[in-house]
Amino acid sequence: MAEAKPRLTRRGFLAAGGAALLGVAAVGTVAGSAGLGEPDPDAVRLGDFWLFGRYEDGCADLEFDEIDLSPVQLPHCVTPLSWTGWQPPSWQDRWIYRKHFTVTAAMTAERVRARFDGVMTNAAVYLNGGLVATHEGGYLPFEVELPQVTMGDNVLAVVVDGRWQLDVPPNLPSAAGPSAIDFYQPAGIYRPASIGTVPRTRLADVFARPVDVLGPGRSLHLTCELDTTVALGEPLQVTASVRQAGRELARGGTTVAPMPVGTRTVEFDVGGLGAVRLWDVEDPALCDVVVSVRSGPRALDQQVVRVGFREAEFTPDGFFLNGRRLKLVGLNRHQWYPFAGGAMPDRVQRRDAEILRRELNCTMVRCSHYPQSSAFLDACDELGLLVWEEIPGWGRIGDAAWQQQNFRDVSGMIIRDRNHPSIIVWGTRVNEANGTTAMYDRTGKLARKLDPSRPTSGALATTTGARYAGSDVEILAYNDYTARRGAPFQLRPPRAGVPYLVTETIGTIAGVRAYRRIDPPATQQLQAELHAKAHDLAAADDRYCGLLAWCAFDYPSGWQRSVGGSKYAGVADFFRIPKPAAAFYASQGDPRVRAVVEPGFAWDFTASPAGPGRAATIWSNCDRLLLFLDDQPAGEARSRRAELPHLKHPPFAVDLTVPRGRRPQLRIDGYVGDRLVVSRRFSGDRTRDVLGCVPDDTQLRADGGDATRVVVSALDRFGTLRAGATGQVTLALTGPGELVGDTTVDLGATGGAAAVWLRPFAGPPGTLTLTARHDTLGTATATVTTTASGSEGGARS
Ligand code: GAL
Repeated sequence: MAEAKPRLTRRGFLAAGGAALLGVAAVGTVAGSAGLGEPDPDAVRLGDFWLFGRYEDGCADLEFDEIDLSPVQLPHCVTPLSWTGWQPPSWQDRWIYRKHFTVTAAMTAERVRARFDGVMTNAAVYLNGGLVATHEGGYLPFEVELPQVTMGDNVLAVVVDGRWQLDVPPNLPSAAGPSAIDFYQPAGIYRPASIGTVPRTRLADVFARPVDVLGPGRSLHLTCELDTTVALGEPLQVTASVRQAGRELARGGTTVAPMPVGTRTVEFDVGGLGAVRLWDVEDPALCDVVVSVRSGPRALDQQVVRVGFREAEFTPDGFFLNGRRLKLVGLNRHQWYPFAGGAMPDRVQRRDAEILRRELNCTMVRCSHYPQSSAFLDACDELGLLVWEEIPGWGRIGDAAWQQQNFRDVSGMIIRDRNHPSIIVWGTRVNEANGTTAMYDRTGKLARKLDPSRPTSGALATTTGARYAGSDVEILAYNDYTARRGAPFQLRPPRAGVPYLVTETIGTIAGVRAYRRIDPPATQQLQAELHAKAHDLAAADDRYCGLLAWCAFDYPSGWQRSVGGSKYAGVADFFRIPKPAAAFYASQGDPRVRAVVEPGFAWDFTASPAGPGRAATIWSNCDRLLLFLDDQPAGEARSRRAELPHLKHPPFAVDLTVPRGRRPQLRIDGYVGDRLVVSRRFSGDRTRDVLGCVPDDTQLRADGGDATRVVVSALDRFGTLRAGATGQVTLALTGPGELVGDTTVDLGATGGAAAVWLRPFAGPPGTLTLTARHDTLGTATATVTTTASGSEGGARS
């Protein structure tokens, strides 16, 4: 066999000859394989120049006339979408994607594979006209071996079936189709895909499991899948080097007897890890584990997996991380975005984790209700954001075929994600569905076999949940929607004797049907108050391991209580722009890191000409707040600690009644101890409002697979969002990239702010300039430069 000269990357290496490769840490061969490790971030992705169109007979044939297909870049959604009002018929169809690629002599010396991180919903993969694999389910990766490739031009054709699938969770037999569950799932090759070579003898998967993290036997247990297509007459050496902050802490290994063609599981331990820095939410110290396979002097394969040493324990007396009590504070996250469906590049996925951890101070997120992008989970590892991950499913269990797919999903999810230290629970029970105990015993057993280090659970519905006592319950996870509308908000008491976690609450069930910035101020404030109250109640009793409220971001849905195809349950909107309820979360962080003063009212004298009134709320992590009107002292805000005694930082109340006709400037000074840590000004004069056009990042890669958000908003002259603004903003983009979004933003419909995303084309570096114009607010621009593909793009604005 050809000898690889590996160049080390994080989870793989580039083969000699520069061929793109799939350094996937995974097993998996052909049709429907579900057992795949994490994707290789260094593999050359097939980002550009797929040809795409609607399915027609013969479209997967080698000779198919491609004249009517359009060039597209992955990740890709089959239909243009807006920020609301999605129409399922626009994606409920079959589609064709075709990719031409060249196979060199160097590539044929190894194994050529294609990997897809996520195709919604079903896929049939053809190579040069012949069917080579099928895959069902939109949330887990699959790989396809392509031994049939020929030297020169080859065509990979993927038929994507985006129709509602009766036997594929979370879809299920229901006449309501896409509206039978509470989220829409537009079709497409909506996550990255890559093609390339892997060695003939490869490490198909590496699971590096920390053991006895807090005890004297701290070590790493390695389970490696070796997979070879050539018989090996000599013994193999498998070694693992554990590195932290660039330093090797320990190494170990084992020798494997000569191997025939096929697979073999190899296990060994690496000890001597006493000096490891633990992974924690405040200090998410990671380790790289470099695993190599050699045969004598010959390097055959190498994988790098990233792990973290932490002990996460759910007990009837609360949750403990590394032996320290930690109240889990979090939100549920759906993965959908305006305009692109699920098809947002990695940087955008990562940004959600940053919002949750850094802006909303969450210590945990629930990936509701399916495995989410690897980029999002990588960011959770890096940021110290704990994760509940669950299999696709919502509300009901399907038939035998459906349950079989559910079983495959459990193994696919765990094998893909078990090296992530951030993940602390496997949701192996279908959200709010009454499967049989036998079924959950089966999936639970499978989960423990694949990963003995994490508990399993599943969110139980309000109707049955708190009483459920199946033997599968390791953590009683409860979607607590018991609070009655109009009555004071309450949580059900935790159930004694079992670890207890609130996995959902509030949503649009406890309060009103929709929380938008265009809704009355009292409605928006109600959402903030409910979230504060829920976390206060959870903090009051140690037996609650924590509370994950519903939810982080608005999402598309045709289910009950949706409005025009959207669910407005997020504390941030669909564009990820915070609503007043986000101010509660923002105010729970450490004031030494970020001092927060967020009024729970709009200082615009529109809804109420006398100002926000006698009991206005201000969310803050300061000790004291002093108020000034036109720089004249206007009193001190009163802490609401008596009402919300268990919050780290309860809000403040203030009397802000202003004589009619006056529109003074408001200043709020925040003190920690005696020290002034923040001073914010708010303008009552709307004639001086301006337009904002602000990118999340100012540098991107020009590789077709990068993007950043630009928030377009009406701002008062001190930079605070003016939710009551109206009028149209027109957007124009120049430069080598795509505007993912509408070219007109109706501020009156979105509540003064919206966003679009900029996605550079693959090609030479350049500059993207987005110009936003509004009749009275003026003009604003966002400038983003792009660097050549392969060089680092990542500077933040
Ligand atoms: C829950 C469900 C969530 C969401 C929520 C509605 O029952 O688990 O996915 O639909 O209701 O607010």
